[in-house]
Amino acid sequence: MIQEWLQARRAGEEQSEKALQAFVMAVVQGSITRAQAAAWLAFVYFQGMRPAETVAFTRAMTESGETLSWPGIDGPFIDKHSTGGVGDKVSLVLAPLWAELGLRVPMLSGRGLGMTGGTLDKLEAIHGYQTDLQPQRLHELLSEVGCFINGQTARIAPADRILYALRDETCTVESIPLITASILSKKLVEGIDRLVLDVKWGSGAFMKTRDDAQSLADSLVTVGNGAGVETTAHLTDMTQPLGLKIGNALEVEEAEDCLRGEGPEDLTELCVLLSGEGDRAREVLRSGAALPRWHAMVRAHGGDPDRPLKGEGCDEQVVLASTSGEVTECDAGELGWAAHRLGAGRTHADEAVHFGVGLILHAKRGDHVQQGQPLVTIRHTSCQGLDEAQSRVAQAFRLQ
Ligand code: URA
Repeated sequence: MIQEWLQARRAGEEQSEKALQAFVMAVVQGSITRAQAAAWLAFVYFQGMRPAETVAFTRAMTESGETLSWPGIDGPFIDKHSTGGVGDKVSLVLAPLWAELGLRVPMLSGRGLGMTGGTLDKLEAIHGYQTDLQPQRLHELLSEVGCFINGQTARIAPADRILYALRDETCTVESIPLITASILSKKLVEGIDRLVLDVKWGSGAFMKTRDDAQSLADSLVTVGNGAGVETTAHLTDMTQPLGLKIGNALEVEEAEDCLRGEGPEDLTELCVLLSGEGDRAREVLRSGAALPRWHAMVRAHGGDPDRPLKGEGCDEQVVLASTSGEVTECDAGELGWAAHRLGAGRTHADEAVHFGVGLILHAKRGDHVQQGQPLVTIRHTSCQGLDEAQSRVAQAFRLQ
């Protein structure tokens, strides 16, 4: 009886793997009401879940739809997930880097919502790049190129889509077990052996404090390993943006710079850290050896790596330093929202993004600037969002 089951959840009692599977199935089939599902979410929000329950719930969410497998291809299969940050273009570098190092990378990514950009939006700044390849074609890419970065189809983890929308409506998103199951269910479908998590904290991230990021990382690692995938996590600082470029096409440019051995140091070092391959990875990036593989992946997705990126013809406005001094703050949250207001991000899931707009930073924390020196170049189109972007850029920087 569903009411008794809900009462047990409300009382914080442990629920069996079978019962959690039945619940997830009922959500997908619509055989329990939205009100009942929302109540269950609220009880989890307040009472939490035990790790074993979160593992079972995550597995059930993973198995609620299509899963991918790679018969005939030798692994190991690896992927990474970032909880999202401003200027975070690591996936674009890491997929070809790992493939160059002999690993297979079946990467499914999402779109941006809010201040942090989405990997698919960045890739679609490349003319022709298709993010909706079918499983048979993905198998070919993995076999021939060693990596792909594709979108999550509607058939992947459908339970998460339904429950995430309900969580959004009922203010139950910020629950560690629910976030854990939501993130991992969409990664475990990929048929991977290893998962590397980049859990970001700071003004430009979903988790604002290091302690919250640590709690999420601990849960993700416990549940990922419990579900049979070797899972590790790194906590990374997102109080200032990653790299110097924010915006879809701009971030593709910067990722390519990194693959050419000319990327900013913080981006390059984060890619090396997350790769888990140390000096081998650093050398591949320094030498540009993974760039041809990036081009091969782009071509295999239908993209043209030789054509200029979409979003050409933006206007530029340069923000100058109003005083001389050391940059002591370069706030990722403000800069992320500035790029968002220019049109780089979206407010609703079906909104289009502008590929060319964004920010180029000329200074970050620790740099010394002179009065009148450029701090940020704002790329905009027809001044859309320019006033707000300018004031957010001014708010973002502190000089002492
Ligand atoms: N990202 C997800 O995919 N799910 C969450 O619940 C939160 C962030």
